[in-house]
Amino acid sequence: MRTAIHWTPARLLRTHDVARDIRLFEIAPEGGARTNAPGSHINVALVINDQADSRSYSIVDSSLEAYRIAVKRCAPSRGGSQAMWRLPPGAPLTISEPHNHFALDFDRTDYLLVAGGIGVTPLMGMAAALARTGKAYRFVHVAPTRTEAAFVQELRDAHQARYEPRYSREGATLDLALEIARLAPQGQLYFCGPMRLLQAARAAWSAAGRHAADLRFETFASGGRYAAEAFTVKIPRAGLEVRVGETETMLAALARAGVDIMSDCQRGECGLCAVDVLGCEGTIDHRDVFFSEREHAQNAKMCACVSRALGGGVSIDTAFRSTASLLDA
Ligand code: FES
Repeated sequence: MRTAIHWTPARLLRTHDVARDIRLFEIAPEGGARTNAPGSHINVALVINDQADSRSYSIVDSSLEAYRIAVKRCAPSRGGSQAMWRLPPGAPLTISEPHNHFALDFDRTDYLLVAGGIGVTPLMGMAAALARTGKAYRFVHVAPTRTEAAFVQELRDAHQARYEPRYSREGATLDLALEIARLAPQGQLYFCGPMRLLQAARAAWSAAGRHAADLRFETFASGGRYAAEAFTVKIPRAGLEVRVGETETMLAALARAGVDIMSDCQRGECGLCAVDVLGCEGTIDHRDVFFSEREHAQNAKMCACVSRALGGGVSIDTAFRSTASLLDA
């Protein structure tokens, strides 16, 4: 179950490679694209490992006709990027309307945008909006090499000296403490990138004595501390036991078993899919960024969309009630 998602038929108009392993997709929903604020994403319904599933992708920008999203092809992914890359131009699709969990506040005068790799996508709309509204901002874009950085020329043209690409394997460094020190005291940092870079950004932000709420972020699902393995999830109250395959999420396995869990981002960010953990035979590999490290250590809750168990299984409880149990109540 998702939160108030309305699905719409759509068509893939065209694709275009914008960097090594990063492809731009132009997707036209029936009836035209909706207006969307910077940081918005759409969900794309896909068949992944023979199961109906979906993935959310940030909107790079949109026209009246179509949304543009960019997808990085990842070999050891949960299968979403591979499914997207197999789509031919003209392919029929089903997509959601835009949603936004990464909204830009316009009430500050100074902003720092930090993108890691494909994390550039939601920040492009933010940078454009900040430029339009005359705000002070800097946009730091980190990628391993020039060939792996998408949209560089487009961003250079749009933002000139405010845009600073840095290529780590070509000798550039990112000193987050220094970048944060250059931001006005009431400024905000918007970050989108991989988990390790987010952890560094959070640590630098905290060490600088900045207000936690002024660091806004989105990240990619973490690969976890451990390799994925199959495990069993039990819901004692419902008398259910479900096997979660190595390549599927707990959320998908439970949905297959008829257990609807509220979800949205499917990237471990929004916390909507969190379930209560009653017990674990092995270890829980928390892969979300919604809960803090302290909460992860407590193991009281886990995000079903990304987090996993290993070494046996996990017992959980959810707000789910079957139709039968509702009738019995
Ligand atoms: S659906 Fe957002 S954290 Fe799981």
